[in-house]
Amino acid sequence: MANFWARKSTAELANEAACGGGDGDVHLPHRSLSALNLVGLGVGGIIGAGIFVLTGHAAAANAGPAVTLSFLLGAVSCAFAGLCYAELSSTIPISGSAYSYAYATLGELVAWIIGWDLILEYALGAVTVAIGWSGYVVSFVRDLGLALPERFVSSPLAFDAARHGWSSTGAVLNVPAMLVIVLMTALLVIGIRESARFNGLIVVVKLIVIALFIVCAAPAFNAANWVTPSNPDGAFIPPNAGVGMFGWSGVLRGAAVVFFAYIGFDAVAAAAQEAKVPMRDMPIGILGSLAICTVLYIAVGLILTGIVPFDRLNVPDPIAVGIDAAGVGWLSPLIKLGIVFGLTSVILVMLLAQPRILRAMAHDGLLPPAAARIHPRFRTPYVATIATGIVAAVLAGLLPIGLVGELVSIGTLFAFTVVSIGTLALRITEPEMVRPFRAPAIWIVAPGGAIVSVFLMFGLPADTWIRLGIWLAIGLAIYFCYGARHSRIANR
Ligand code: ALA
Repeated sequence: MANFWARKSTAELANEAACGGGDGDVHLPHRSLSALNLVGLGVGGIIGAGIFVLTGHAAAANAGPAVTLSFLLGAVSCAFAGLCYAELSSTIPISGSAYSYAYATLGELVAWIIGWDLILEYALGAVTVAIGWSGYVVSFVRDLGLALPERFVSSPLAFDAARHGWSSTGAVLNVPAMLVIVLMTALLVIGIRESARFNGLIVVVKLIVIALFIVCAAPAFNAANWVTPSNPDGAFIPPNAGVGMFGWSGVLRGAAVVFFAYIGFDAVAAAAQEAKVPMRDMPIGILGSLAICTVLYIAVGLILTGIVPFDRLNVPDPIAVGIDAAGVGWLSPLIKLGIVFGLTSVILVMLLAQPRILRAMAHDGLLPPAAARIHPRFRTPYVATIATGIVAAVLAGLLPIGLVGELVSIGTLFAFTVVSIGTLALRITEPEMVRPFRAPAIWIVAPGGAIVSVFLMFGLPADTWIRLGIWLAIGLAIYFCYGARHSRIANR
């Protein structure tokens, strides 16, 4: 009889942390990531389509200039979850992130549900950003006077939310989106150190682009830009025009939209087994990258809405619109190129996190053992990496961006909820456990993380909830047919 509530014991966790989760594997992953690499991974995974694309939408439709407050709210909710991730990743420094934490705190069934749910965050996250990447590449190439064949640069499928139905767009396949996933997958198979180095390079480019935007656009800031037909008095928080449209409810809805921009700091936790000193460096990587991005996001939100009236920002390239409005349009191609690079590292980090979670699940017997295999020369989980890459590439070639983006957000918020609850559960069940990093005020931070995450989930449409339910139901069917029978922990 399967034991759905089997938990990994403290001794098992210590053993996995010590031997790289590899007992039974001949080859172990390389411990080669420094604290700086981990912060780089976090920033690489965080700054992407959220700030470069969604900021404009959230300002135009939900919050106006107060999108800055939406970013602040998003940061507070992520800080709660980030503190919990930091505590668990230093206490249980094994790969697998939220999946492994749930296994140690809430038992196998919850761990499986979270592991399955994380596919929405990481694999689908990579798909979402790859589609955004394709859009920016097409626009950049067009600026250079070249036109890519339209039928091969966008999704063949469109989803009409009002009619709840699919239709054909006339396109064949989104080839650039598929290509970037294939390239990043190849890099990840070759090595974690090579991947981290490439990521570090891109992060520098990305930070330069944001700094350029802030420095060049800040002098053009003028609060007169806050005045629009829907905000005649030029208030910082425009008057409410319906649920989620301006006013405080708009600020909240805006926070749910820009939440996507913060996703990625938790991916650092997935690489715990490749960190040199995980107990010290995981909290630095998670909280450091979150802090850097929060400051940058708030600055960008404030400046963007101060140089362009927010009703003009509902475009796929709001930063480029801002650059034009600031009178430094010549910077635009450079900024677009930087954004293309910036999105590349998000795809890389998401595709790095996903196989490590699949590997942890396979190692525990919940997925077929092939997914746990480490390449004898490259020391990377190559089977899981290649499988993730193939599935993500196919989805990126076919699906529209809006649909997948919302699923990524709801999946991530669900994981944050469980991690927050798990952190508190472990404090109660294992109070004596050594915790190199302890989240402060745990009775506020952990429940706060769970409550805020559920609250933001309610900001997402009902359709997205239904899709999450269907996805989890498929996962449960697979668990009962395979995982529950092959579980190493439950059958020990
Ligand atoms: N935070 C990542 C992005 O904004 C997912 O692209």
